[in-house]
Amino acid sequence: MLKIRTPFALARIGRDTRSIRCRSHHYGSLFPALITSHPFPPTPTQSQFWVEKYEKEACRNWDIFYKNNTDQFFKDRHYFAKEFPDVFGVQVGGGDGEEEDEGPSRVGVSDDRGSTSATSDTKTGADCCARVFGPAPRYALPSLTANEVKDGTGTARPAGRVFLEVGCGVGNTAFPLLALDKAAAVYCCDFSQRAVELVEARKEGLSLHEKSRINPFVCDITRDPLTEHVPPGSVDVCTMVFVLSAVSPEKFARAIRNVSSVMKPGGTGRVLVRDYACGDLAQSRFASKTRQKLSENFYVRGDGTRAYYFSQEELTALFAKFGMEQTQSVVHEKTITNRSTRVDMERRWIQASFASAAVPAEALPAPPPRAEPEWAARARLADRRKAGEAVLAEKAKSLELAKQTQAVADLEKELVTCTRGTLERVVLGIARDGAVESGAMLRRLQMEAQS
Ligand SMILES: C[S@@+](CC[C@H](N)C(=O)[O-])C[C@H]1O[C@@H](n2cnc3c(N)ncnc32)[C@H](O)[C@@H]1O
Repeated sequence: MLKIRTPFALARIGRDTRSIRCRSHHYGSLFPALITSHPFPPTPTQSQFWVEKYEKEACRNWDIFYKNNTDQFFKDRHYFAKEFPDVFGVQVGGGDGEEEDEGPSRVGVSDDRGSTSATSDTKTGADCCARVFGPAPRYALPSLTANEVKDGTGTARPAGRVFLEVGCGVGNTAFPLLALDKAAAVYCCDFSQRAVELVEARKEGLSLHEKSRINPFVCDITRDPLTEHVPPGSVDVCTMVFVLSAVSPEKFARAIRNVSSVMKPGGTGRVLVRDYACGDLAQSRFASKTRQKLSENFYVRGDGTRAYYFSQEELTALFAKFGMEQTQSVVHEKTITNRSTRVDMERRWIQASFASAAVPAEALPAPPPRAEPEWAARARLADRRKAGEAVLAEKAKSLELAKQTQAVADLEKELVTCTRGTLERVVLGIARDGAVESGAMLRRLQMEAQS
């Protein structure tokens, strides 16, 4: 009997009145697809204007999400050893594989998390069937690679395995990965600068040695080449946890190609995916709303972040395009019943693993420089104008100073040669007129001397 952890979403509310039934559908290369796409009544989609707006503002919206939630929204994900024992080795007392995991369990509707809170009578249980795995990768045991330091070309590589977590958020997967393999180096990236700053802040709490093992960086996996931060062909295990669903479907291929470019070649690397599955409760809620559908299976939440719902075949085909063969695919299903309302809630998510390609995909070409936002261009021009004005003012000041210095020098020369009477007349005149400027004094002296 598997224990199901109290879901984070409900832990936030406090008490849980749900009964949970859990099933998993698996298919590897030997099994037929059990879960395909899930039909919903047609919902009108958003206009192209809004679709493009959400795409343009994707990074900004996640930034705002992390500004509002900091590192308090998701919990650390400790199920990798249990769910992928061929990759991490089975850990006694490791995370519970059926731990509820819904990524951002928000659908922009208030009742997503808040509809169950009457009594504390919680029943949990699970009957998951046997898993199907592909062949264990060569690097399954860390000790096999622990002493490698240089690759065939003599390039220095981390001594242990290399993990990469893309779309790392605040590090809820990246930090647990550190603990799974004490010799591994963990790269992790997100396109939200704020999220990466939160990872950096958490990293500060680690020991010096642990700090050196985790490398966070900002990267939009649909446009920035990962090879700028991660050596090409170096990654043993890449995790993609609820990140692909946040990318627009037109850019899935770019993201996967980018990941492939840093994976170890020869089918020895693994890409581990956990993401939303078609038919999830949140999708049905989206489907019942107008103005939340952006395209087929793709929706926008109230805060502007987006979610795509995958079928197993679709995910398999996406990776196959880049020569990455599926080694595991499971759809986890969990029925959560609200005892007070007797409403069943179907949560579903896909878990899959893909072998790296025989030859990794080429790295993405370097993206063109980002277009400067209008406000930034205005600020830059204003700064430039201010700097120009300051230089001109400085020049005028030094010119004036030079003029005055010259006048004083001339005055001194004139004073040496002038008679006492001349000087007295000039000083009296100045006292009368109130003019004390060196140039004026000089002119008067000269006039006196000539008269
Ligand atoms: C649901 S969160 C998952 C966070 C993390 N993987 C975890 O285990 O908790 C999705 C993350 O994907 C990031 N993301 C979305 N699109 C991205 C892109 N194109 N490039 C990089 N990160 C992206 C978001 O900023 C967000 O942090």
